[in-house]
Amino acid sequence: MVEYRTFRNTDTPRLVAVWNEAFTNRGAPRLANNTLLERYVLAKRIFDPNGVILALVNGQCVGWAHAALSQNPFNTLPVGVVCLVGVNPSHRRQGIGSELLDRCEQYLHKQGAELLQAGGHWPNNPFYMGLYGGCDSPGFLHSDPLAEPFFLKHGYKIDQKIVVLQRVLDQPMKMFDARFLPHRNRFELSFGSPRRLIDWWHECVHGYVDPLQFVLHDRQSRDWVARTLVWEMEAFSIQWQRPTVGIFDFEVNPAYRNQSVGRYFLSLIMKYIQDQFFTLAELQLEDTNEYGLNFLRSLDFVEVDTGQVFIRNP
Ligand SMILES: CC(C)(COP(=O)(O)OP(=O)(O)OC[C@H]1O[C@@H](n2cnc3c(N)ncnc32)[C@H](O)[C@@H]1OP(=O)(O)O)[C@@H](O)C(=O)NCCC(=O)NCCS
Repeated sequence: MVEYRTFRNTDTPRLVAVWNEAFTNRGAPRLANNTLLERYVLAKRIFDPNGVILALVNGQCVGWAHAALSQNPFNTLPVGVVCLVGVNPSHRRQGIGSELLDRCEQYLHKQGAELLQAGGHWPNNPFYMGLYGGCDSPGFLHSDPLAEPFFLKHGYKIDQKIVVLQRVLDQPMKMFDARFLPHRNRFELSFGSPRRLIDWWHECVHGYVDPLQFVLHDRQSRDWVARTLVWEMEAFSIQWQRPTVGIFDFEVNPAYRNQSVGRYFLSLIMKYIQDQFFTLAELQLEDTNEYGLNFLRSLDFVEVDTGQVFIRNP
């Protein structure tokens, strides 16, 4: 007999135990204790215990799921997000995942969701940034192959695909490019605080990984020329056995585009990261951003995974 109930404060070790059995692929680090789950999920002020549902057999937790309403202030309709569903291998294909998903959906309906999304992706990724998916939230990864058949079976369809790209920093960075010469005198790189997060929601989603902001300025006009946020992917570094840095919100000021500024800026950052003994950098881009993907490929980034965001109209 399977019992279902919502989260209690003493449940964290149960969630961790299932996490380590259910999420064993590259996109989810192994959890040594409660700390990361506390930091990236339970400690957020938007955390609602009613959104976490546990499945128990003889008092032992064999699966859990987490749902939350996105509070992105710019959504035109309320989006309910199924953030994660995991069932221990010993209890799969017995309808437990389906029941957990159904209870998540009921919770989201009660919260007023008018669109259901499975797999977090900015701006609808209230939880698990820093803990699942890599340097950002790419929905559910291909490397977790059970997600797709499960959500398609439950009436979801694939809405977006996000490409995960990595660049190994083992070899010294080549910074020789004739196009960079004028940039060296014209622009200057700075980094540190205060970081620029767009609003409270951006802070709520991305602030917990404590990113460092890099900005390229025009020395004369003091305009920002390019900027991005960078964070140390602590848990993933252990999982992949490579000190890794995640880069997100990379942008070049429109007034400075098509002048090799992006290439110069990213090369400077990678050089800086490498000097700090990191050996891997990761970025994620939507698969529709062909220009951006080609830009990254030209800087020796390679595709290592793809995330998928699923949606369903209630
Ligand atoms: C995805 C997951 C939660 C499904 O849990 P579950 O308890 O096995 O799911 P159910 O028994 O309710 O399966 C429901 C339906 O999903 C589909 N499905 C589930 N696993 C499948 C598989 N391995 N291959 C094909 N279809 C599958 C089937 O249609 C299944 O119905 P059926 O058994 O009557 O054919 C579970 O496999 C899991 O924990 N996987 C690892 C974590 C993960 O990838 N989670 C999703 C991303 S967070």
